[in-house]
Amino acid sequence: MLEQLEKIGKDAITALKNITDTAALEEFRIKYLGRKGQITQMLSQVGHLPAEQRREGGQLANRVKKEVSEAFEQLKKNLLQSQQGESKELVDVTLPGTTINIGKTHVITQTINELLEIFGRMGFSVAYGPEVEDEWHNFIALNIGPEHPARDPFDAFYVGGNTLLRSHTSPVQIRVMEQTKPPIRVVAPGRVYRPDTVDATHMYMFHQIEALVVDEDISMVDMKTTIDQFIHAYYGPEIKWRLRPSFFPFTEPSGEVDVFWVNKQGKEDWMEVGGCGMVDPNVFDAVGIDSEKYTGWAFGFGVERLAMRKYGINDIRLLFENDLRFLKQF
Ligand code: PHE
Repeated sequence: MLEQLEKIGKDAITALKNITDTAALEEFRIKYLGRKGQITQMLSQVGHLPAEQRREGGQLANRVKKEVSEAFEQLKKNLLQSQQGESKELVDVTLPGTTINIGKTHVITQTINELLEIFGRMGFSVAYGPEVEDEWHNFIALNIGPEHPARDPFDAFYVGGNTLLRSHTSPVQIRVMEQTKPPIRVVAPGRVYRPDTVDATHMYMFHQIEALVVDEDISMVDMKTTIDQFIHAYYGPEIKWRLRPSFFPFTEPSGEVDVFWVNKQGKEDWMEVGGCGMVDPNVFDAVGIDSEKYTGWAFGFGVERLAMRKYGINDIRLLFENDLRFLKQF
């Protein structure tokens, strides 16, 4: 019995030396040190030894158990440490990387870029003008007389004297014609400001894209063809649009462009996206371009409205709320 105990102890120590992972270690624990393990069993049998062997047997059993338990605990500690050490350096290349949020341009900026790209392909260059304008460029040179309602302080944001936040991008037409001789072929995107009551299709600040073409023999056919090509390039071949007569002091004749869309109530409807027309001779006179020699056309389209129709956005206010859940869609 005592020899057997000694042998179990030696076997256990030898077995421990061959263990390299925690699963094998657990098997070892069950085999030797568990409730029904060999060492535990031996220990419980010490009580059954004849009285003269009991003391020696007890001491031996306890020593074997202590040795094996200590060796077991030591190995367990070593295995855990090397496991942690491994996992610290372990790089799992199959895991998805941490994404870095780099952001993107606003849907209105995207739209303007897309429009400029289309007009760039059609041979237009890009012009910019100031958002704080004077009455000459915003009204007077555009044939908008002092009596016109657009000049009412309730219809424009005056910032003092004859200075105001431009109410449309048409003053850029004037600035371009003051500086450039025909032929002219430009588009001018930018912000405009009007004290409009805010609703699903109106905002006190929005964006327009203006176009101006001036040359000899320019007719309304050029205008309508360019608008048609632009609308199809932007919306695709399926789009329906119409040109309807209108009035602007700086164009004669004048028209308005509508595109077909589904409105907030789910109703199909025409939505006005902008005005257009043949440059009024009075405008040419104001900038010193010979209106006998040159003709031209212009349009001013609302960028928000073009985008709303394209993406099915039924409320202009969504574009300015900076709600990332909305903006991330574009
Ligand atoms: N400026 C006009 C507006 O804002 C639009 C327009 C531009 C009309 C050019 C005709 C020609 O309503």
